[in-house]
Amino acid sequence: MVSSIPSLAISLLIILSTTGFLPLSVYGTGGFSVDLIHRDSPRSPLSDSSSTPSSRFKSAVERSFSRANYFRNAMQQNTPSFSASSPSASENLYSGITANGSEYLMSFYVGSPAKEVIAIVDTGSDLIWIQCKPCKECYPQKIPLFDPQASSTYKVISCKADSCPALPSESCSHGSECEYTYAYADGSFVDGFLSTETLSFDSTGGRRVQVPSTLFGCTHHSNGTFSDGSGLVGLGGGQLSLIRQLGSSIESKFSYCLPSLAQSSATTRLNFGSSAVVSGSNSVTTPLIPGKPDTFYFLHLDQISVDGQGSVLVNPSMQAAVNAHQGNIIIDSGTTFTFIDNETLQSVAKNLARSVSFPQVADPNGLFSLCLNVSGSGDNDKLPNITFHFSGGAPVVLPDDNTFVEVAENTVCLALLPSEFDGIGVNIFGNIAQQNFHIGYDLSAMQLTIAPADCANM
Ligand SMILES: *[C@@H]1O[C@H](CO)[C@@H](O)[C@H](O)[C@H]1NC(C)=O
Ligand SMILES: *[C@@H]1O[C@H](CO)[C@@H](O)[C@H](O)[C@H]1NC(C)=O
Ligand SMILES: *[C@@H]1O[C@H](CO)[C@@H](O)[C@H](O)[C@H]1NC(C)=O
Ligand SMILES: *[C@@H]1O[C@H](CO)[C@@H](O)[C@H](O)[C@H]1NC(C)=O
Ligand SMILES: *[C@@H]1O[C@H](CO)[C@@H](O)[C@H](O)[C@H]1NC(C)=O
Repeated sequence: MVSSIPSLAISLLIILSTTGFLPLSVYGTGGFSVDLIHRDSPRSPLSDSSSTPSSRFKSAVERSFSRANYFRNAMQQNTPSFSASSPSASENLYSGITANGSEYLMSFYVGSPAKEVIAIVDTGSDLIWIQCKPCKECYPQKIPLFDPQASSTYKVISCKADSCPALPSESCSHGSECEYTYAYADGSFVDGFLSTETLSFDSTGGRRVQVPSTLFGCTHHSNGTFSDGSGLVGLGGGQLSLIRQLGSSIESKFSYCLPSLAQSSATTRLNFGSSAVVSGSNSVTTPLIPGKPDTFYFLHLDQISVDGQGSVLVNPSMQAAVNAHQGNIIIDSGTTFTFIDNETLQSVAKNLARSVSFPQVADPNGLFSLCLNVSGSGDNDKLPNITFHFSGGAPVVLPDDNTFVEVAENTVCLALLPSEFDGIGVNIFGNIAQQNFHIGYDLSAMQLTIAPADCANM
């Protein structure tokens, strides 16, 4: 079904310097990077000036659960693909985002002449889509709608084209266009035509990178609360994702480095190609494990250890729940919290409680398994590091910023949530745990490399 896609993959990737518009091949240029905008930063169209730390916390929790639910459903069905007939059915999901609910956005350009769009970045789905004119009952966006008629490089894909079946749910429109309907975790949906267009990215440092003939969705009908964003960029491992379409021109490599939650207005970058190489003596490498659906990035987590206490083997039962794949955890940039099977989580919490002198308190929100009263803590009272041991001898030492959240004044909780719902669970390595690490995905070597970094100052 997907074997025909490589022929449609971009044949050319050009970098235009902003001064001379000299076309250069991306090879040997050092790759490129684009800015990532946190949803709560003032640059984000999703930012809500009336939000408070506690309302943001609450919605991050809701988004995490909704995303965990999406991963769980997609794992059970092996693919985020089903009939397009009931887009609002909660089991037919193409992304775990709630329409207003991803963490990062990026700005890029579509068409010729190039028009700016700002879209949610999602490592848990593949399709790139934006809202296009004419748009029937579409959710409002801040930036003008993209007008395909006004672009000389826009082409709609026929439903007979080889690339059409790459959509998890395709159908043939009255005009024989290749049509998709994607449903989101909160019942929102987008409906449109698979198309090709020139995408361009403002690379950090002022170059513009152009990618002709990129497959993307032109959405002509939508419903949801995507707030003011123009659409979504899928960075998953499937054929239609930006990463797979850029393919060999970026050596199938991308990376990001997320600053801490408190630095949500810091500029951070999404890197491609040689800019996405993570190296150094502090870096560790673990296999990316092929799994179903191929959209998701699976790793194998062997153990979790608390400084000064023993290691806890990650309960293998979760693997049965994911159809015996070898991966037992999905790494995802769009899930705030980390989800671990409850048995493992309880053992980690027990070890942790033993290793600290702070009194335990109940979580005021009733969510977390272990909360501590840290009032009156002195300089010598520290929360221990927690190490996630990934396969291939890849210990990732997580300082307390990556494993604890402050839920009330002087109350901190271990930021791990149980992955089981109704007896089925999918472990997720979430973005609090990933903060201040440079994380490189190499889809050609099928390796993930992680190195500690000061992401706000990179
Ligand atoms: C759009 O969503 C709103 C609320 O989310 C719902 O009330 C409405 O029926 C939906 N419209 C369509 C056409 O599905
Ligand atoms: C965003 O989504 C959450 C559900 O995840 C919902 O409760 C909230 O009302 C939505 N906010 C907006 C502004 O649409
Ligand atoms: C996790 O285990 C603890 C202790 O056995 C139990 O109290 C809690 O209800 C469990 N949580 C879930 C979601 O199963
Ligand atoms: C935390 O401990 C302090 C004194 O050590 C106490 O005054 C406070 O009430 C405690 N907070 C909670 C939430 O238990
Ligand atoms: C956590 O690990 C870092 C280095 O990996 C170390 O500098 C720091 O002291 C550790 N923290 C604690 C509380 O042990």
